[in-house]
Amino acid sequence: MNPTHDTPAWRADFPLRQPDEHRVSRRQFMKTCGCAAATVSAGMMAKDKLFPPPEATEPKLIAQLSEVPIGGSRLFCYPTENHPCILVRLTEHDWAAYSQACTHLMCPVNYQHEKRRFYCPCHEGFFSAEDGRVLAGPPPKPLPRYPVEIRGGEVWVKPP
Ligand code: FES
Repeated sequence: MNPTHDTPAWRADFPLRQPDEHRVSRRQFMKTCGCAAATVSAGMMAKDKLFPPPEATEPKLIAQLSEVPIGGSRLFCYPTENHPCILVRLTEHDWAAYSQACTHLMCPVNYQHEKRRFYCPCHEGFFSAEDGRVLAGPPPKPLPRYPVEIRGGEVWVKPP
């Protein structure tokens, strides 16, 4: 196509018609969405491999026994201050400690003692308070659990 003297020379190199320049076809839109979804998924799968969470090495004192009633919970950070966790007292002698970050998209989970479960409000994820397994919703993995040890009147969390 030869440009006429009324048509600028660049128009021959970019022969899009003006009304179509901003038009996005359904196919183009779906391709863009598919590529974005694939990129996000790949990033989430690679995250743990590229940035593994730090290993816990030392036990940590979390609370005095008398400070947490049955059905109660206590928030703490472990193994670093950037890793929120939750300690729950299931019964008189049963304790459990988990990472508080949902394994789906890291929202903090809340403890619901009457149902013995953790609830993630972001996308309706549920985890068992007995062992951290996924009960419902989109989380792909159980909540990471930390062993709890009672020493005298104190509650300690230990490395797995
Ligand atoms: S972040 Fe918890 S269910 Fe999505």
